[in-house]
Amino acid sequence: MSVVKINVLTVPEEMREELERRFSNRAGMVESADGFEWFELLRPMEGTDRYMVYTRWRSEEDFTRWTESQSFQRGHAQAAAEAGAQGHGHGHGQAQGHGHGHGHGQGPAASGSEIWSFEVVQSTGPKA
Ligand code: HEM
Repeated sequence: MSVVKINVLTVPEEMREELERRFSNRAGMVESADGFEWFELLRPMEGTDRYMVYTRWRSEEDFTRWTESQSFQRGHAQAAAEAGAQGHGHGHGQAQGHGHGHGHGQGPAASGSEIWSFEVVQSTGPKA
């Protein structure tokens, strides 16, 4: 049974463009991860400042293996580098790239994140 892992990023209004720019430059490594099935970046249309980084995996183990992989590290290295660099070194960036630094300049695009986990019980696509 496939699993859906959504990284819920809280993105202040003024950082939306920066977050989308970073994703538009993303490493594109997740596509080669074993068991990876789907990725979408969902922008909120109204009433919330939370973006959804939607990923679907063949199994929980495949997701976990990816989060512990070089591909995850490198897929987030840019975020860390940008969060750290633009924070002029005052940020409290974490090694795996999800700095929630309090630096100057751009720094991290998200002010918070949490993971939502779901099992795919039923799914369908358009009629062939
Ligand atoms: C503190 C937590 C996290 C933050 C702040 C965060 C932020 C980001 C940012 C800014 C990027 C864009 C690329 C870059 O700048 O390097 C990125 C890439 C990505 N993130 Fe995260 N992320 C976090 C954790 C996660 C988790 C737990 C997942 C899975 C549910 C996830 C899924 C992805 C995917 C699929 C990509 C694209 C990687 C690629 O292209 O290979 N992220 N993340």
